[in-house]
Amino acid sequence: MSSSSGRAVSVIGLGAMGSALARAFLTAGHRVTVWNRTAAKADPLRAAGARTAPSLVEAIGASDVIVICVLDYPTSAGLLGPREVGAALTGKTIVQLTTGTPADAREAERLAREIGAAYLDGAIMGYPRDIGRPECVILHSGAETIFNAVADLLGALGNNLYVGESVGAAATLDLALLSTYYAAMTGYLHGAALCAAEGVSLEGYLGGLDGILPIVGVSAKDYATRIADRRYAGDQATIDIHAAALRHIVRASRDAGIAPVAEATSAWFEKARAAGHGGAEMAALFEVLKR
Ligand SMILES: NC(=O)c1ccc[n+]([C@@H]2O[C@H](COP(=O)([O-])OP(=O)(O)OC[C@H]3O[C@@H](n4cnc5c(N)ncnc54)[C@H](OP(=O)(O)O)[C@@H]3O)[C@@H](O)[C@H]2O)c1
Repeated sequence: MSSSSGRAVSVIGLGAMGSALARAFLTAGHRVTVWNRTAAKADPLRAAGARTAPSLVEAIGASDVIVICVLDYPTSAGLLGPREVGAALTGKTIVQLTTGTPADAREAERLAREIGAAYLDGAIMGYPRDIGRPECVILHSGAETIFNAVADLLGALGNNLYVGESVGAAATLDLALLSTYYAAMTGYLHGAALCAAEGVSLEGYLGGLDGILPIVGVSAKDYATRIADRRYAGDQATIDIHAAALRHIVRASRDAGIAPVAEATSAWFEKARAAGHGGAEMAALFEVLKR
C-alpha cells in the first residue's frame, strides 16, 4: 500500500510487541517513525520502510499520534518525564499500549494532562504474531473523543474495542482476562506435568481438554448472572464437591513428586466452606474472593 495515503504515527519501544505494532502500521500504509532505547532494534523496521528518529524528542516531533509500548509504566514515565520530552508531547495524542494496572493508567493520564497531551490507555489481548489480524482484540479506555480520533489508525493493529471513559477500565479488563488466562495455562501445564509423571500421553490429555474447555466458557457466563443476582444455590456441583476434587489434585501431585500448584486454589475453596458456602455452586467463591 502506498505510504503517502497513511497517517503519521510514532512508535516508542521496539521490543517484541512494539516492533509488531510498528510493522502493522507500515503494512497498513501509515508513515511510521520509530525510536527505541537500544537503537539496533529499529534496523529491521527501517529496512521495512520506517523512519528511525535519532532521539525520542525527534520521534515525538514526527507525528501527532505517539504509540508507546515499553516494559512497564515506570519505564514509560521515565522516558516521557524529562522537560524537553514533555514539551514535545504538548498537543499530541499518546496511545499507551504498555501493560499495567488501573492506577498506572490513571497516573499516566494525569501526567499527560499536565503536559497538555491527549491520553488513551490500551491493552493488547494477543501475542506479537497476532498484531494486524482482525481477530486481535485491543481494549481502550479514556475519553471517547480521543478514541474516535485515532480509531482508524489503530485499525491497522486489529479489533479495537472502546471499553469506557474511566481510563483504568482497559487495564482492569486486561488483568481480569490475564488472571483467567494464567490460571488456565498454569493448570494446563501442571496437568501436563502430572500426565508426564504418571506416563499418560499429552495426546490423550489434549483430547480430554476438548471436553472441558467449553465447560469453562459456559460456567463463566452462568456465574456472571449468579454473581449479579447473588444466586448461588444449584443442583450441579457444590463447593464441598469441588473442594474434595482439589484435595485429590494436591494429593496426586505430591504422590507424583510434582509441584502442588492447586494448593492455593484449594485453600480458597476451604475458606468458602468455612464461610458457610459448602453447599453452594462454585460461583459463591466470588463472595470470599471479593473481600
Ligand atoms: N509480548 C507480548 O505478547 C505482549 C502482549 C500484550 C502486551 N504486552 C506488553 O507490551 C509491553 C512490551 O512487551 P514486549 O513483549 O515488547 O517486551 P520486550 O520485548 O521485553 O521489550 C521491552 C521494551 O521496553 C524497553 N525498555 C525496557 N526498559 C527500558 C528502560 N529502562 N528505558 C527505556 N526502554 C526500556 C525495551 O527497550 P530495549 O530494547 O532498549 O531493552 C523494549 O523496547 C509490556 O508492557 C508487555 O506486557 C506484550
